[in-house]
Amino acid sequence: MKKVLRSAFYRLGPQSRRWVRRALMLPVDLLVLLRHGGRPRYAGIALPLPGEVFTGGGDFLANGLLFKAHFMELAGLRPDERVLDIGSGLGRMAIPLTDYLTRRDAYEGFDVVQEAVNRCKELISRPYPNFSFTWAPLHNDLYTADGARAEDFRFPYADADFDFAWATSVFTHMDRNEVARYLLETRRVMRPGGRFLATFFLMDSQAEASSQGGPYAFKVQRDGVWFMDAEVRAANVAFSPEDVEAMARAAGWSSVEVHFGRWSGRGGPTLDFQDLVLLRA
Ligand SMILES: C[S@@+](CC[C@H](N)C(=O)[O-])C[C@H]1O[C@@H](n2cnc3c(N)ncnc32)[C@H](O)[C@@H]1O
Repeated sequence: MKKVLRSAFYRLGPQSRRWVRRALMLPVDLLVLLRHGGRPRYAGIALPLPGEVFTGGGDFLANGLLFKAHFMELAGLRPDERVLDIGSGLGRMAIPLTDYLTRRDAYEGFDVVQEAVNRCKELISRPYPNFSFTWAPLHNDLYTADGARAEDFRFPYADADFDFAWATSVFTHMDRNEVARYLLETRRVMRPGGRFLATFFLMDSQAEASSQGGPYAFKVQRDGVWFMDAEVRAANVAFSPEDVEAMARAAGWSSVEVHFGRWSGRGGPTLDFQDLVLLRA
């Protein structure tokens, strides 16, 4: 039943999907508002209500804080570094970093959903002008109805501009050519010693066995790429670990470190649902 509903949901357009979520979650949103006497906040920034979060499930703030810890502990993020957030969404990763990053030009984020970028500008950049957000008018099967091809996109930043970048739950919604392009572009804008943390669904034999029949079953396989939905290809996408490593090395990354997530029955409780791949320049 859950799979049928999810499949029907994916067949709606991106805007309609956002409105359906808002309507269905209205009672939850009202409860949150009542319980907190308004919107919950972090570092003075109003957080989106559950019905407004079109970028994935789970606790918005808790997940952001968990990744803040991953950025520091796995990738060695320091307060004085300049960072890039690829697919910045509603600022789930940005908000917990507002009380950590100290540079005047600390943070750049870009996303394909214009209203999400505008919201981040309003709620985050206004009180924290060292956080900048840019709209990239690109097409994505799941998030945007039209736009340019992501596989041709040149990031709007100079070479060697950043110390650290991340793409959380973004390559899980992009096709192989797009991911290959983004790995190249991220490497181009990374300084010597730079790191890149990206989440993936990595499909190996254990993941294939444990995902069969479950809510995260990748039923469609084409040219070495796995999809959950044949119609909406960006609904969820999985790659083999070998393919991701080959793409990363071809893009010029010198080291590739994998931490398996919970979706395939691995990873400890503190690791993410998705698999984490840490690349070093
Ligand atoms: C599941 S959400 C994750 C958002 C955010 N990274 C987070 O962890 O909360 C996926 C995000 O990727 C964005 N996105 C999709 N295709 C993209 C592309 N080609 N370039 C940049 N962002 C993209 C979507 O608009 C959406 O905000």
